[in-house]
Amino acid sequence: MGNFLSEELINEIKDANEIIDVISQYIQVKKVGSSYKALCPFHNEKTPSFIINQEKQIYKCFGCGEGGDVISFIMKMENLDFIESVKLLAGRANIEINRTESLENIKRRLKEKSLYYEINRKAGLYFYDNLTKQPNPALKYLSERGITSKTLTSFGLGYSMDSWDNLMLYLQKEGYNLDDIQKCGLIRSNKSDGYYDYFRNRIMFPIFNTKGDVTGFGGRVIDDSMPKYLNSPETLVFNKSNILYGLNFARKNIRNGQIILVEGYMDVIALHQADFKNAVASLGTSLTEYQGRLLKKYCDEIIICFDGDEAGTKATMRNLDILSKVDCRFRIMVLPDDRDPDDFIKLYGRDEFQEHIDKSMSLIDYKIFLTKNKYPGNTIEDRVGLAKEVSNIIKDIKSPVEREAYIEKIANETGISKESIRLEVLDKVKSTFVYKNNLKRGSDYKRSNNYIEMVPLAEQKGHIIAEKQLIKFMITDNKLIKHILNNVSAEDFSVTEHQEIVAYLASNMDNMKDKEIENLFPHLEENINKILSTDIEYIDLNNTLDKYIVNLKKYKLLYNIRILEEEQHNIVNSSNLTEEEVESKLLDIGIKIMKKNAQIQKLKSSMKGG
Ligand code: CTP
Ligand code: MN
Repeated sequence: MGNFLSEELINEIKDANEIIDVISQYIQVKKVGSSYKALCPFHNEKTPSFIINQEKQIYKCFGCGEGGDVISFIMKMENLDFIESVKLLAGRANIEINRTESLENIKRRLKEKSLYYEINRKAGLYFYDNLTKQPNPALKYLSERGITSKTLTSFGLGYSMDSWDNLMLYLQKEGYNLDDIQKCGLIRSNKSDGYYDYFRNRIMFPIFNTKGDVTGFGGRVIDDSMPKYLNSPETLVFNKSNILYGLNFARKNIRNGQIILVEGYMDVIALHQADFKNAVASLGTSLTEYQGRLLKKYCDEIIICFDGDEAGTKATMRNLDILSKVDCRFRIMVLPDDRDPDDFIKLYGRDEFQEHIDKSMSLIDYKIFLTKNKYPGNTIEDRVGLAKEVSNIIKDIKSPVEREAYIEKIANETGISKESIRLEVLDKVKSTFVYKNNLKRGSDYKRSNNYIEMVPLAEQKGHIIAEKQLIKFMITDNKLIKHILNNVSAEDFSVTEHQEIVAYLASNMDNMKDKEIENLFPHLEENINKILSTDIEYIDLNNTLDKYIVNLKKYKLLYNIRILEEEQHNIVNSSNLTEEEVESKLLDIGIKIMKKNAQIQKLKSSMKGG
């Protein structure tokens, strides 16, 4: 046949490249209600007007008019022609393009796929009947583990008989040939014995894709024999690094924007039975990027709840890497005494499980938690080891205020003074700071990004000076620290280094020693010297001080107004609000903006009056 890409092949490739997955590889896509939105990659915009329709697998930008399917997205994004784009997508989905492949072949392959789904479904139903229609050891085992018959049915659990050919004979009787059954991974063959059933005397877990097709199976022994779990081999329709057990249910039962990621089949099932229907598991492997992106598509945050043993901890860390890589938010949940979710629910019930979800940890907290386990004792060695390692963790925290809070916490827990821990942290910050500085020579101050993006340059004028002056007041006259910090806090400062210095001053205002500050912030020495050498208008101390405080406050209000204005834009551009909803939301925000403006006016007049 000719040298062409048939419609069937193109459709197969499109089917295998979920549009949201593909687009998410290029730009950040956000789920808003039932639709997906992003900042359009094809024109410059500040509020998202690029909409992806998952059902129709198309995208459309209401800003620039660009639109199409996954292939046209790639054409435009990668600047490729049609054929090249299809090839790229085929490669992404592991589909071999044989441009001389005949139409007949392509059609046959598509038919094969649907045949394998059909055989798998038949096998699944057969296993289910084996489990539920007569007494058998698997049913006894499952009921002893507390699995209800309702759960058995909703997961389609089954039993593969203790036989070498039971399933094979059944499927043959149903009209399927041995070759096809083998290609589904349900039977195997060797020279001496011929064909035989792959799963024997096991509890069967059908594995569904998100469309609800049975792609393969997991099988658990009923006794202590090995291997405990056996999964279907790779087939045309089963690839265990692309699939998550339970996702077909979980995606319809997202709770608080969360999906719970657990280790095992039984954990997923036990959680569903306890009404946590948002649980999924990878199939005995650590998460792949593909799975990470898949999860991110359905939820805002992953709660990882792996076994507390060493293997589980390692797997957790690997999964965290993957989830960070695909930019997916997560928290870590730790169960006591190395319990897995299934054991835990049985022992303590669903309310306690929910409490543990609520207590799940950020990455920093989790790292500190692991370090504490490593140094559990009260010996000097343990306390020093703990303080040192935790300092190394704390140094990565961006916010100086948060950093101070952790320093305080660890000081309390180890009995080592805050000052020593702070020195340890700063030592570590310093080494990374020097490195960064070498990369980015010349820039004097690094401003926290939010501020710089939100407030126009003209309105920033005078602000940095105000910050420096305030810090100078505090350093040169410690009595002023309290007065100033009654009015502004570290977060009100826009320069990261300023925030750091102010946070330090705030937590040490009662026992500041002269000049101590230079020693504590060696990496900021230059900044501090600059601050100290800036001229202060000494005319009227109180008045000047207040002027700077007002400046900072005004700045913060302006910043907040910008955020509110952004919100207004988003509402105007939102596609899933009714006109009345838009009106009332805009009105609410408008009132907030008016109030902030009034506060600014008041600040200004207070200055004139004083
Ligand atoms: N697994 C596997 N092959 C094995 C052992 C485990 O594929 N030989 C995978 C399975 O997906 C299993 C998961 O790893 O669900 C977790 O294993 P484990 O903690 O041993 O099993 P549980 O799910 O806790 O099962 P059970 O409670 O029935 O022992
Ligand atoms: Mn278990």
